[in-house]
Amino acid sequence: MSAPLKAMSVNPQSKKCVVLGVTGGIAAYKACEILRLLQKQGIDVFVVMTKNACQFVTPLTFETLSGHPVAVDTFARPATWEVEHIALAKRADLFLIAPATANIIGKMACGIADDMLSTTVMATRAPVMIAPAMNTGMWENPATQQNIATLVSRGVHVVTPATGHLACGDSGAGKLEDVAVIAQRALDVLRAKRDMEGLRVMVTAGPTREALDPVRYISNRSSGKMGYAIARAAQRRGAQVTLLTGPVSIEPPQGVQIVPFMTTQELLDRALACAQEQDVIIQSAAPADYRAREIAPQKIKKQGGEDMTIELVENPDVAATLGRAKRGDQTFVGFAAETNDVLAHARGKLIKKNLDMIVANDVTTPGAGFDVNTNIVTLITRDGSEALPLLSKDEVAVRILDAVLALRA
Ligand code: CTP
Repeated sequence: MSAPLKAMSVNPQSKKCVVLGVTGGIAAYKACEILRLLQKQGIDVFVVMTKNACQFVTPLTFETLSGHPVAVDTFARPATWEVEHIALAKRADLFLIAPATANIIGKMACGIADDMLSTTVMATRAPVMIAPAMNTGMWENPATQQNIATLVSRGVHVVTPATGHLACGDSGAGKLEDVAVIAQRALDVLRAKRDMEGLRVMVTAGPTREALDPVRYISNRSSGKMGYAIARAAQRRGAQVTLLTGPVSIEPPQGVQIVPFMTTQELLDRALACAQEQDVIIQSAAPADYRAREIAPQKIKKQGGEDMTIELVENPDVAATLGRAKRGDQTFVGFAAETNDVLAHARGKLIKKNLDMIVANDVTTPGAGFDVNTNIVTLITRDGSEALPLLSKDEVAVRILDAVLALRA
């Protein structure tokens, strides 16, 4: 069962517009339901179909449902459509293609504009979202995967297809995602504030790994989820985001520059290389405070019953190092994961690391801390603090960014 769509408040003066592109796959009929779900949220939907889509559903169906003419082909219609496709491209607050075939994905990735839909989507400056649907072999084909990666790197939102029984008889990945999920993703993009446009934001996330020998390392339980959520939220709000990431097993956010690191020293080097050009730096990474004095060149062997001592040396403090070079126009945020005296320890770090805000959490509280999708944090600035309730990490990210913008106002 899909979750009910979250209601969106509608101001008739600013009725949002979705241009819905429908391409020729058996899932084309599901676009009717997506259209209805969006309309129920007060959104005006205009439909553009490919010729092949018309083999599956008639334009009349979409014309009746949307209450607008349906654009099909640039040359088969009166000349006004030539201009109309640009008008549609401009009118869109979101351009959604559902279902998106391998063909339209390939054309978008290569910049081919040879019909009404491909020309209109190329002309738009609105955010673009695609919901692919195709046979499993086509979806898994390296050409499709490479095209998807290209579109993702350009900031196109991709609603990854579901796995299940397909109309062609195969079972596997390639099934159009649930229509309610697609509509919700569209609403999320439409709701996103663009209040971080023009800001450069660097986010650090995840753990570090400090090698002991070729097969072992010291690390910690950081999952990277909080930092990834912040990077994603900042990108959605229009910021230019660089995400410095330790080794984690989560999908990188779309439209974000990814810079990997392994050790605390590497994190420091990468951060120093781009810190000067940032407006905001948010450090949610969990760098190891210590590393082995010597990394054994061969696998360390058991000591035959003897205890073993590994000598550790202190790593640089990345946040404190960056903090020393902070300019007045920059805003730096740190995290403090504590198990006791949370607020006092966090305040101490705020001052010591020259931060503008620190996000404190007690990692022993259920629902807060490592590897869960929720967090309970207190936002501490030099002037005060705000304790937030249990929230999803995505919502915590939004609140942190709101607080950053308030500090910069
Ligand atoms: N941090 C850092 N470099 C380190 C350790 C931590 O930049 N070597 C940053 C973290 O990214 C976080 C903040 O400093 O934003 C606080 O991290 P935390 O591990 O809570 O603090 P520490 O300074 O390591 O203090 P302690 O481990 O003694 O609590």
